[in-house]
Amino acid sequence: MSYREVLGVAQEIAVEYLEGLDQEPVNPRASLEELRQRFGLPLPEEGMDASQVVSELARQAEGGILGSAGGRFFGWVIGGSVPAALGADWLTAAWDQAAVMYATGPAAAVVAEVCGVWLKDLLGLPGESSFALVTGCQMAHVTCMMAARHRLLANQGWDVEADGLFGAPKIRVFATDIHHGSIHRAVKMVGLGLKNLHSLPAEQLVDAVSGPAIVVLQAGDINRGVFDRFEELIPALKARGAWVHIDGAFGLWAKASAQYRPLAAGLERADSWATDGHKWLNVPYDCGYAFVRDAEAHRASLSHRASYLTHASDVRDQLDWNPDWSRRARGFATYAAIREMGRSGIEAMRDRCCEGARLSGDGAGALPGVEVLSQAMLNQGLLAVGDDARTERVMELVNASGEAFLTGTTYQGRRAIRVSVCNWQSNAQDAARCVAAIALALDGEAV
Ligand SMILES: Cc1ncc(COP(=O)(O)O)c(C=O)c1O
Repeated sequence: MSYREVLGVAQEIAVEYLEGLDQEPVNPRASLEELRQRFGLPLPEEGMDASQVVSELARQAEGGILGSAGGRFFGWVIGGSVPAALGADWLTAAWDQAAVMYATGPAAAVVAEVCGVWLKDLLGLPGESSFALVTGCQMAHVTCMMAARHRLLANQGWDVEADGLFGAPKIRVFATDIHHGSIHRAVKMVGLGLKNLHSLPAEQLVDAVSGPAIVVLQAGDINRGVFDRFEELIPALKARGAWVHIDGAFGLWAKASAQYRPLAAGLERADSWATDGHKWLNVPYDCGYAFVRDAEAHRASLSHRASYLTHASDVRDQLDWNPDWSRRARGFATYAAIREMGRSGIEAMRDRCCEGARLSGDGAGALPGVEVLSQAMLNQGLLAVGDDARTERVMELVNASGEAFLTGTTYQGRRAIRVSVCNWQSNAQDAARCVAAIALALDGEAV
């Protein structure tokens, strides 16, 4: 079976899918039962034609693909893929490099090196920081917290890599009360313990911090896109010896826009930063970035040498910075996305998404009964329609229409509809279609 034929089939299906996104419903239409029935075949004893596998896969998945790649998807915080990043990602799979060190993929290692430099520049982070291209913001938190754990305990005379955490001085983790659940999971993974995680209003944070501490501040919270007050908090927290970590899964990208940069002012004074490529840079899943000011601590927490590996002193081996060992060469897609858009295109995309969130909020807010709980300050807005049940019902009707896709949250004790705009393709027309779908849902809901 030739690659040419199989990849040709895959390409045709993919292009048809992507070009149809604007007309197709955004919501998945196949039921759980249907999907289980279609995929749940007996384990094949014999193989089959590769092109047929691929074309059948597409048929089996039909209606089970959420339209998050398109411009009318406003759920959670999920980005699409710019074309060059998608193309680069296909090549990444074709080249199939184990991006663990330079020797296993020289171009992948160098591209990752360049991505680090470019990203620090785009995001206004200190040039001396180390970085890692990880699977997402969750693993970026873990990477940064491993570095923090190393440094805070080394400062107490404890070698955590050698001696582990049993009997170690306690590290407490503080976070403002708008932090994301991935911080809980990172605290668990790094072995710090959820009982040592303290969630506090920002005003109480500085006074509460003492001893070895990691403080997590938020650049763009999941509900409203709120930023902690970095200029005030970071110097005060650092004066108390804390390691300040920033969760900027999408909000760190405000730094790439002159208009929105002031929201993030001062975050460059932190110790570590976590963000995503698969959200607002619009590279394919899965791709996140960790940056650590104290490169030595970062490297000490992860670096490994083995006699069967091939190391050289003049190269950057990803194994020294990444929590995973064998890994996808995800730098190619990041590199391609940055080249396709350039600094100005990345800025324009930020501004377009934020404008889309604002337009949707304004448009929906003008409809009878719709309340704007939070006008978008970045690319996230919050709406409610009467009580919780009505809000949920309207959202369900919008999603069932296939015209737009929205997801919910609880904000200040009320159910709310989030409008999250994170796709390079989303435009004013998509915002208008979303508002029209909300208007129709209000009509339908009133019946
Ligand atoms: C604010 C925030 N932090 C962290 C994460 C986790 O990111 P990822 O899913 O890329 O691991 C998310 C994901 O939605 C998020 O919104």
